[in-house]
Amino acid sequence: MKKIVIYPGTFDPITFGHLDVIQRASELFDVVIVSVLENTAKRPLFTKDERVEMIKESIKGMNNVEVDVFDGLLVDYAKRKNAIAIIRGLRAVSDFEYEFQMALMNRKISNGITTVFLMPHEKYTYLNSTIVRELARLKSNVMDFVPTFVAEKLREKFS
Ligand code: PNS
Repeated sequence: MKKIVIYPGTFDPITFGHLDVIQRASELFDVVIVSVLENTAKRPLFTKDERVEMIKESIKGMNNVEVDVFDGLLVDYAKRKNAIAIIRGLRAVSDFEYEFQMALMNRKISNGITTVFLMPHEKYTYLNSTIVRELARLKSNVMDFVPTFVAEKLREKFS
């Protein structure tokens, strides 16, 4: 049986921090499904299709990584996908409280699904999509934080 894992998120947009986590997960599991939450109260800058396209471009060459879209409860989706675990990135203590609550709640409302936390390289500790969007909006260079085509998409959005 293949060990399938879900890596859920908004990915608005995908960053080098996300990609670092995906790479690590792909070395631990047989299949990694990067799962884009379609409807979120966060009102994303990019549409679902744009976010999926940027992820697809970013994971080219990672043979056991797929992209998918989901809506509704994450644990129901994970069950439908036969996933054995959920991956979340943990950058700093500030992430911990929210992630801890979500992991325990997901475990409680499912048949005990495990959340596996992976720490991206420490050079990405300060990196998140919100900051990248803000930098791009203010016309700062984001090439150190996202792949080239994502930087280009950000430039188009704010031009
Ligand atoms: O990258 P994000 O925005 O921090 O990801 C948050 C995400 C998508 C993992 C979370 O919002 C989620 O799982 N949403 C689906 C709805 C759900 O299952 N909510 C209950 C969580 S305890």
